[in-house]
Amino acid sequence: MQHLSVPSAETEKILQTLQSGGNLPESARVITNPDEPGHRLIPFIGILAGDLLEYQVHEIDTKPSPKSYRDHLQHILPVEIFESIDWPTRHEFIGDLILIKLDEMQRQYGTEIAQAFLHQHTRVRAVFEDRGVTGQFRVRDLFLLGVRNGENPTTHTFLTEGGHKIAVDPSKVYYSSRLSTEREGTLDCARRLSVELGRPLSICDPYAGVGPSIVPLLSEPDLVGELFVNDMNPATTDFLKMNIKHPNVTIECTDARQLKQRDELSESFDLLLMNIPHDTISHLPELLPLLRKGGIVRGWAVIENSDFESASNYLTQILGHNVNIEIRRSYSATANLCRFEAKKTD
Ligand SMILES: C[S@@+](CC[C@H](N)C(=O)[O-])C[C@H]1O[C@@H](n2cnc3c(N)ncnc32)[C@H](O)[C@@H]1O
Repeated sequence: MQHLSVPSAETEKILQTLQSGGNLPESARVITNPDEPGHRLIPFIGILAGDLLEYQVHEIDTKPSPKSYRDHLQHILPVEIFESIDWPTRHEFIGDLILIKLDEMQRQYGTEIAQAFLHQHTRVRAVFEDRGVTGQFRVRDLFLLGVRNGENPTTHTFLTEGGHKIAVDPSKVYYSSRLSTEREGTLDCARRLSVELGRPLSICDPYAGVGPSIVPLLSEPDLVGELFVNDMNPATTDFLKMNIKHPNVTIECTDARQLKQRDELSESFDLLLMNIPHDTISHLPELLPLLRKGGIVRGWAVIENSDFESASNYLTQILGHNVNIEIRRSYSATANLCRFEAKKTD
């Protein structure tokens, strides 16, 4: 098909001219001109006139293979709509689902966006708009945009993290793949501690979600002895039962701060995970009594830049020795997600 090579900035104007002259083919697809930087190629039909004659004409035989869902979207939507909107550049895979954040303009074309994704990713079952996390349990507000023909539009899925299969439903329980590297670090920490102690570890994950921090530890021979996992969200219990197969596991659903009242749990764990980033620092004194002397607490906390020093001093004070807080990634313009790892010495 014949294409006009036009400066990128003029694309919209020329599309309109072609459209009004009846020269724009249906589902026209604008592509980058690989031979002329800053130029795009617009297909046309019929005979051109006027200013359009100033542009170079290229005969293009083959269509480049689609690289993104936007390449499909371009065929689904009328060209003037496709060209008028900034389409999302990020989306998240959770198992066989795609979750995508949309603004008001993009949301009007949610069905078409889903159609384009389902075309691009043949293993994806359904596409949901992610309207953010809600409530104390930080579950996602998901809105179905599209599902593959004949498939179930459920948000329940199985994902693979570090080679391990994990059942999850992001609309009912918390899950984020962003913390997966932190979980690899937890595995390293547990290995080191187990070597140091010369035995399997007794581990407590009081804010376990669906258990992604624990799952990788279970495939290491003799790493995990007793295991106590808990989450206050009642929907996590079934997922924890599915994901955590261990002969010596206790699964509970309570406010983690209540656990200190249980005599049988007092000073009974070698490793304590504190992953409730907005509350880790305030909850820590209530959970520390569960840790044995010589045990390690590994925690994640969102800390405002202005509070960093006081958080560091506070941890040092409650653990009785200097605690190093590491910034792991930016959380907002003024805060970071941080991690600390500290031994209980008395
Ligand atoms: C940031 S998520 C971490 C989940 C999991 N550790 C992970 O890495 O995916 C925090 C979890 O704490 C749970 N939660 C919130 N408040 C709690 C509380 N007071 N006691 C126990 N669990 C709580 C939430 O339901 C959520 O699953």
